Amino acid sequence: MPAAVDGPIGLFDSGVGGLTVARALADRLPGERLLYFGDTAHLPYGDKSPEAIRGYSLSIAQHLVDLGAKAIVIACNSASSVAYDALVDALSVPVFNVIDPVVAEVARLKVKRVGIWGTKATIKSGVFPAKLAAQAPDAAVRAWATPLLVPVIEENILHGPILDAVIDGYARPTLAEDVTALVLACTHYPIVAAQIGQRMGANVALLSTPQIVAEHVAATLGDRGLLRTAAPKAPHEFMVSDYTPAFESIAQQFFGEAIALREDHLWG
Ligand code: DGL
Repeated sequence: MPAAVDGPIGLFDSGVGGLTVARALADRLPGERLLYFGDTAHLPYGDKSPEAIRGYSLSIAQHLVDLGAKAIVIACNSASSVAYDALVDALSVPVFNVIDPVVAEVARLKVKRVGIWGTKATIKSGVFPAKLAAQAPDAAVRAWATPLLVPVIEENILHGPILDAVIDGYARPTLAEDVTALVLACTHYPIVAAQIGQRMGANVALLSTPQIVAEHVAATLGDRGLLRTAAPKAPHEFMVSDYTPAFESIAQQFFGEAIALREDHLWG
């Protein structure tokens, strides 16, 4: 049964990365309430099999719908790559991934040489090159798995020589391909976008997934008459499958304000 218009928007990620998307959604749609689930018990998704990621995603998304979510945003590129179709089939509410709006933006901008940085799961899935071939056939696409960025970011190493060395290692082959735009195809990466942008230089445009996705979600929910009306808004809720104080402190950096994480025992 479709959820009520005044219900929350459900989002999920393997951990805190999806909070970059939550932040953009909260800014773009200040009247909406967010219900966020970080599957910290299974982080990282990027190293898992498609079957495992699909199973976790189905359980979490159904859980969010059971809690009243009127739409689901898969705030994770790894899960968007391998679980989107399964979620669309399984759920009775609109489902959004973080890939299609970015592919549409590459097509809209007529990018000639686009680079993709993502987790192993995202890059192995081949979803970005396949969708870009269909929608932006003139764009030459190069994709690199850049998995070291996630553990560095999760360790709260957001500046300094370790981060610089990791970015440099991935920037060299990317710059050698003369890309004109780079998709940060992992929801963790925007938190270090400035550092990546500095290394890539002014000739490479960074495509900011959270803002592009938030625009798309806002437009689509608006078109479908699913934006909230006048009901008073309860606070956002943030759940994790395994709570640690370290997650809570880094979550604040991702969301840009202090938030309380609640452990949710979805996995028993
Ligand atoms: N945030 C996830 C993504 O966008 C990556 C983190 C992970 O590997 O779990 O793919």
